[in-house]
Amino acid sequence: MKIPFVDLHAQYLSIKDEIDKAIAEVIAESAYIRGPHVDAFEDAWAKTLGVKRCVSCANGTDAIYIALRGLGLKHGDEVITSAHSWISTSETITQAGGRIVFCDTDEETFTIDPEDIQRKITPATVGIIPVHLYGQPADVDPIMAIAKRHNLWVIEDCAQAHLARYKGQYVGTFGDAATFSFYPGKNLGAYGDAGCIVTNDNRLADWMSTFARHGGKGDHIMEGVNSRMDGLQAAILNAKLSHLHTWTEARCRVAAHYDNLLEKVGDVITPEVSAGRDHVYNLYVIRTENRDVLKEYLEEAGISTVLSYPKALPFYPAYAYLGHSPEDFPAAYFNQARILSLPIYPEINDEMIHYVAECIGSLFLEETPGMGRQAEKVAPYLWSTS
Ligand SMILES: Cc1ncc(COP(=O)(O)O)c(C=O)c1O
Repeated sequence: MKIPFVDLHAQYLSIKDEIDKAIAEVIAESAYIRGPHVDAFEDAWAKTLGVKRCVSCANGTDAIYIALRGLGLKHGDEVITSAHSWISTSETITQAGGRIVFCDTDEETFTIDPEDIQRKITPATVGIIPVHLYGQPADVDPIMAIAKRHNLWVIEDCAQAHLARYKGQYVGTFGDAATFSFYPGKNLGAYGDAGCIVTNDNRLADWMSTFARHGGKGDHIMEGVNSRMDGLQAAILNAKLSHLHTWTEARCRVAAHYDNLLEKVGDVITPEVSAGRDHVYNLYVIRTENRDVLKEYLEEAGISTVLSYPKALPFYPAYAYLGHSPEDFPAAYFNQARILSLPIYPEINDEMIHYVAECIGSLFLEETPGMGRQAEKVAPYLWSTS
C-alpha cells in the first residue's frame, strides 16, 4: 500500500465543485490581485478567530517580517524565539534588523520553554515569537506574563496551528500580532503561497497593510514591500474555510487513532498534549530512538514520512556564527535525532492508519525480539502477507 505524507488531491476531489466554481469566478472577474475575494477572506478569517483585523500577504514568512517591521524592530534589538521551528521564524528577525536569541523547548510538547525565555531576557530584548509547533499551542499564559512584566511585544507564529486553542481560546488572539501561513500543506492551505497577520490593533493593521503594498498605492508614504495575497488563493481559501472545523476534527480523530494503535508499540512515544491545549495536528510527530531505521523501513513499505525538522535551528550552518553547542538547547538537541512525522490529513482512512501502525509494530518486532507477542498483536497485516 502506498501512503503519501499528505494527499492534497484527495481533498480537492472532496470539494471539487466548490473549488472549480471559486476559481472560475476569479477568472471571470479578472480579480487576480487583491479585490473582493481577498477582502472577503480577510473579513472571514478575522471573524473566525474573533480578532479585529486580518492583513493578508504573500506567505507566512512575509507575515512575520511585516509584523516585526510593524512593531518597530530596530537594528540590534533582541527577539527571543524557539530553537525548534521552521527557519522562517528566525530568518525574518535577522532580515528585519534584529538579533535572534534562541530558547530551548519543552521536551514533550516541542514548544518554547518559558523558563528559558525568562533566563534569556536582557536590556536589549524587545519581543518574543512563540511558535505553536506542529499544531499544539505553546504555553501561552507564562509567556504573556513574562512579556507583560518586561514590556515586550509577542508575535504568535501560528503557521501550523489554525484553530488550535489554549484554555479554550484560539491561538493568534493572545499576542500583539499573530501570523498564519496558508501554504498548501497547512491545515488551511491555498493552492500556492499565501499568508496573513491578525491583530486587535487597528493602527498596527493599517501600517502593515500599507507596508505590504509598496508603502501605499498612489501615495507612497514610506518604502514598503510587495507582499499580496492573490485573488485565486483568497477564493480557494474562502471555499475551504467552511470545511476547516470538520477537517480539524478529522485530524484529531486520526491522531487519536494513531495514539491508540501505537500505545501498544514499545519504543515509540506518541505526541504529548499538555492540559488546556487543543492540538490541531498539522503534523503528527512521534519520537523513537530508532528513528532513522524506522524512516527507511516505512519508506520501503510505501509510507512517506518527514523530519520536521532534521536539526534544531541553532545547529544549522546558517547559525554557526552564534556559536551554540548542544548543551545550550538540550531538549531541542535531544529531540532532533528522535522525531518523525507520520502521514496525517483529514482524508487518510482507517485502513491506511492501521497499515502505518502495523508496519511500525513489525519493525520493532524484528529489532527487538523480546517484544514479539506485543508486536504480533499490532502487526497482523505484515504477518499475514510475509
Ligand atoms: C512554524 C512556521 N513558521 C512560518 C512558516 C512560513 O510560512 P510560509 O511557508 O507560508 O512562508 C512556516 C511554514 O512552513 C512554519 O511552519
